[in-house]
Amino acid sequence: MQRKVIQQLPPNLVNRIAAGEVIERPASVVKELLENAIDAGATHIIIEIQDGGKELIRISDNGCGIPPEELPLAFAQHATSKLACDEDLFRISTMGFRGEALASIGAVSHASITSRIEGNDEAWVVENRGGTITAPQATAGNVGTTVEVRNLFFNVPARRKFLKGSATEMGHISDMVLRTALPYPHISLELYSSGRSVLKLPAASFHERLLQAWPDEFRGQMLPLEVSDAEIQIHGIIGLPDLARPTAKYQYTYLNGRFIRDRFLQHAIREAYRGLTEPGRHPAAILLITMPPQDVDVNVHPTKIEVRFRDSGRLHGLVLAEIREKLLANDLAPPATFKTPRPAENAAADPFETTAREKLAEFFSQHFPGEESAGTPASPVQSAIGFFQAPHVIAFPEANKPTYPDPTTIGQNQGQGSYAGKAPAIQLHNCYLVVESGEGLEIIDQHALHERILFEELKARITRGPLESQRLLIPEPIKVSPKQIALLDQIQPVLQRLGIEVQQFGPDTIAVQAFPSFLHRIAPSNFVQELLEKGENEQLDLHDEELLHEVLDMMACKATVKAGDALTPGEIEALISRRDLVERSSNCPHGRPTTLKLSLRDLEKQFKRTGF
Ligand SMILES: Nc1ncnc2c1ncn2[C@@H]1O[C@H](COP(=O)(O)OP(=O)(O)OP(=O)(O)O)[C@@H](O)[C@H]1O
Ligand SMILES: [Mg+2]
Repeated sequence: MQRKVIQQLPPNLVNRIAAGEVIERPASVVKELLENAIDAGATHIIIEIQDGGKELIRISDNGCGIPPEELPLAFAQHATSKLACDEDLFRISTMGFRGEALASIGAVSHASITSRIEGNDEAWVVENRGGTITAPQATAGNVGTTVEVRNLFFNVPARRKFLKGSATEMGHISDMVLRTALPYPHISLELYSSGRSVLKLPAASFHERLLQAWPDEFRGQMLPLEVSDAEIQIHGIIGLPDLARPTAKYQYTYLNGRFIRDRFLQHAIREAYRGLTEPGRHPAAILLITMPPQDVDVNVHPTKIEVRFRDSGRLHGLVLAEIREKLLANDLAPPATFKTPRPAENAAADPFETTAREKLAEFFSQHFPGEESAGTPASPVQSAIGFFQAPHVIAFPEANKPTYPDPTTIGQNQGQGSYAGKAPAIQLHNCYLVVESGEGLEIIDQHALHERILFEELKARITRGPLESQRLLIPEPIKVSPKQIALLDQIQPVLQRLGIEVQQFGPDTIAVQAFPSFLHRIAPSNFVQELLEKGENEQLDLHDEELLHEVLDMMACKATVKAGDALTPGEIEALISRRDLVERSSNCPHGRPTTLKLSLRDLEKQFKRTGF
């Protein structure tokens, strides 16, 4: 092989390589520019975005500004005002210190800095076109700095291609702005996308600012945390155990004003909630840790998201002990919440009063058309879903009062079914049904089986047109992220088929206007919120049919009897007799088995009756 000579790389190429580490997507540019504005002492910052940041990112601040003679240096590599001497590297108290962000951004975009310092009459501007820096020019402008970044990655096609759609990039940007701004309540921030307001964070009190990261309903369920030992201070808020979620979405940890991800800290938080939340859930917590800069190394990761503590054990112990103590000293029961009943609902429709009996009543009224008596009102299930539409009129003998098949008649009205002549099925632990079968016995998971049956019924029903829905008297508002709004746009057609009507109200609010009638016991806003959260965390398949099935499955799951619901013998029999009419009844829609079989032969083996 022919050897090539070693040569110093030209600065442009060095910067482009460095940019690869720090600037991954538009949100990384926003983070760097925002941090610079915070370091510059700004109290008001405006961020304007076009096309998810691919077209334009512009950040204007009212900070200290940059004098004209230093402007070209701001774009230069390894040029910073934040480190004056060697020792400063070990006591960093600013967000930036590498002197690299603007050089990196300039190398992969068309960027400009316009800045004016206090005492100067005019602002000055320098431009950087993919690494070529112009001389400063006088221009008009307020005290402070505006950085404009256009055509990001115009000269790195591989990166540009890798960027997602504008809505997704915008979602990353607004998450980034929120998380960067949380520890700075005195700074007011405004974020716009193509002129539309996306996020407004007015200057606020400390707790008020932190609460901007959580949904409104978390407000009454948080505990403030204030801890300090000789060197470490922790301020923040923690959520009651009930607010723990499947993802760490509502967990934010900061060190000296910088958002960090640290597995020791995450572990300490999780441990503090041990036994109070379901395993695998992430508690809601926002912790701002302050410690002497020399006790931590922030220079271990190009984006500074990881840090190294000199004494991580001590921090772990402090966080664990203080959160645990706070939790144990407080009443952890979540406050009761009451949803306004929707029209045409009876008293039993309160979601907190739902019993297995009522759910089964609905189930029966679908499946036992023979039980009806003409002239009485149809159950909400019938009228909504129309499983057994006319000629039947399914009804309760007394208005709103469900009846159940008489246990003594079990086997009569289903005499032709496979259970005729068998011992009656029984329920164990309000959870499992044990049934005598031809070959032996079967153990059924009542929730899994009911879920599969409802899911199949719904799937069959949806082929005949949209589910019938009921308008809400008072639309239920939900606070949403820009990512969730983009997602909502995408899934609207499927929601319409399912009878869910949702409209956008303002930049960060949507409202549920109508909801499937048969789900009248479920709070519509909770359902839609859960759906959007799943989508946001990429837990939904967004292809139309798959999405439809996933949402139908969610509906089936929520409308189903649960483990722990006591059933009458008649209800049990009804559930089992439906099993044969449904395809794939052996598994619930999630793939869990609904039924375990134990043959007589298995039993004989186990009891060693046959000498095996
Ligand atoms: N918005 C701003 N207001 C005032 N000065 C700024 C602003 N943005 C950048 N500067 C000046 O430009 C310098 C270079 O900024 P740059 O972001 O490249 O590096 P840094 O912030 O020092 O370090 P890092 O690379 O870690 O961010 C800063 O040190 C600062 O003096
Ligand atoms: Mg910087």
